[in-house]
Amino acid sequence: MSTSTEQQSTEAAAFLPSPEFAATARISSMEQYEEMYRESIDSPDTFWAKEANDLSWQEPWSSVLEWNAPDAKWFSGAKVNMAENCLDRHLTSSRKNKAAILWEGEFGEKRTFTYQQLHREVCRFSNALLNEGVQAGDRVLLYMPMIPEAVIAMLACARIGAVHSVVFGGFSVESIVDRLSDCQATYVVTSDGSYRRGKAIPLKANVDEALKSYSGVKKCFVVQRTNTDIEMIDGRDVWWHDVTEAASVHHTAPGFDSEHPLFILYTSGSTGKPKGVLHTTGGYMVGTYSTCKYIFDMNDEDVYWCTADVGWITGHSYICYGPLLNGVTQVMYEGAPNYPDFSRFWKMVEDYSVSIFYTAPTAIRAFIKAGDDLPNAYDLSSLRLLGTVGEPINPEAWLWYHKVIGGGKCPIVDTWWQTETGAIMISPLPGATPTKPGTATRPFFGVDAVILDENGNECPLNTSGKLVVRKPWPSMLRGIYGDPQRFKDTYWSEYEGYYSVGDGAQKDDDKNTWIIGRLDDVLNVSGHRLGTAEIESALVAHSAVAEAAIVGRPHEIKGQAVVGFVILKGDQEAGDELVQELRKHVANLIGALARPDDLYIVAALPKTRSGKIMRRLLKELVATGKVTGNTTTLEDPKVIDDLVAKLQG
Ligand code: PRX
Repeated sequence: MSTSTEQQSTEAAAFLPSPEFAATARISSMEQYEEMYRESIDSPDTFWAKEANDLSWQEPWSSVLEWNAPDAKWFSGAKVNMAENCLDRHLTSSRKNKAAILWEGEFGEKRTFTYQQLHREVCRFSNALLNEGVQAGDRVLLYMPMIPEAVIAMLACARIGAVHSVVFGGFSVESIVDRLSDCQATYVVTSDGSYRRGKAIPLKANVDEALKSYSGVKKCFVVQRTNTDIEMIDGRDVWWHDVTEAASVHHTAPGFDSEHPLFILYTSGSTGKPKGVLHTTGGYMVGTYSTCKYIFDMNDEDVYWCTADVGWITGHSYICYGPLLNGVTQVMYEGAPNYPDFSRFWKMVEDYSVSIFYTAPTAIRAFIKAGDDLPNAYDLSSLRLLGTVGEPINPEAWLWYHKVIGGGKCPIVDTWWQTETGAIMISPLPGATPTKPGTATRPFFGVDAVILDENGNECPLNTSGKLVVRKPWPSMLRGIYGDPQRFKDTYWSEYEGYYSVGDGAQKDDDKNTWIIGRLDDVLNVSGHRLGTAEIESALVAHSAVAEAAIVGRPHEIKGQAVVGFVILKGDQEAGDELVQELRKHVANLIGALARPDDLYIVAALPKTRSGKIMRRLLKELVATGKVTGNTTTLEDPKVIDDLVAKLQG
């Protein structure tokens, strides 16, 4: 196979898809992309109706889109079942006995589910949920490891119209309580524990703790995974294996309104309280289906592997729903990329002949550090397409991924999107788009993404501004659960009727969009969003802390690291012990990923005369060790000297 060729463009070397890749790709030239993109923007109804017609609908829609900004209704009037589309739809073809999920546990144990077997398990658990009283519209909180039962539970909820809300297994008891009470969940699905680097982490015990503060849960379903000793509360807790064994494998999927809620997923924002992002059924289904089909160019022969966790949107759209809608075979892995060492992923790519591999830049940077010998020891020749998600990828990591993992022959799709967008929004199409390391390139079909200045004018090329989306798209969020005002204020008010993304970006001479990063007080740590306000409020909840400020600093592997500054209450003793306690306190309250990497106890913070903390200066300080920015508005400029001394000392 030939390698992809380098072409000199106006700015930097661009990588063109190889003729071999283009020859079989669904979209094989920029002309074809431009033509379809035009149609998707000029006649979205026609375009999306065509896409939707690949899927099955129990009753047809009366209109493709009803748009009354910011409220969208896609495929209004239609009746549809998401799980039927992921499973039943494939049972009348040769996909019936094809592997849907090739699962591998941390210790190497393997489980395979064909589409038919997965269908049976989903029907069983759907019946078990129904038998225990779950009804359409009920909120079911999932706190699960990366085991097949997580996907089965999501699909079973979808099948009966219950609304799942998956909470990442690394989140704390407090986070579970917040989410349970925000969405008023009445059911929980969890497991006794989950494995992480060979260690059993308690999940059920965390749920038990959470349920002491929230009394609305009627039943808790527990999968046995780690055989950890747990308490089962009579009348509330039931074993997954007991209730599924007793349940029928037959279940007819009912049709739900296209706008029936599918799931709520919490994500950090610029205030202390995470937002419950609401997605509904028909439009999200079409969006995840189409992006997998065109961007991952999924085919029946592919073995696809997305290394995300189901606790994040990537795991929802590109493990659970999109791949199954496309009838592809996928690998699902339980654990850490470095267990037992950093060759785990490459061994699995070889073992399963993975052809499409989707991971995060932070993982790639960790692999670079671990050395080329590890991937070089495995046969990675089955790979034909690589993807990244979650944060801007630095050119060094992109080039390494391309050469060492992709053997110089695989296109890389750098996919930009968000929890709120539901599906990929800006990305190369692998058989068509010339790619450059560091840019997500061009908008996907139907995505009218532009970069605006403060006055709402489109920025000239090579000038940064705010990324916004001007037209509705099928998989867009339908709201923040229970808070329509926050939905309007957060996303739709800066430029009336346009969706404000929250990222800064600019376009180059070739119309490629370069994402610069968040414009709000949200950090991106290892591809995960963390609100600075959320961590600050965790810190001030500690009895020793009077005030706190959180900023991000560049980090070689994680992209950004969390740095905290705290002012103690009058009578508190500063010392290393307290620093460690405060770091731990944040991990306990939110989850380990929010634990500050550095925490400084300081006497004062840089504030304006009106009392606002000047985070800009703290950011510069932690990134460079000094402050050169304008400090004239500071109430007390001496504070900066003290902070510089503190950081150096
Ligand atoms: O800042 C952007 C960054 O991640 C944010 C969305 O985070 P979340 O909702 O947690 O979803 C992550 C997985 C889809 C965006 O606002 N981001 C995501 N993908 C990219 C990215 N930044 C640059 N390039 C990307 N490919």
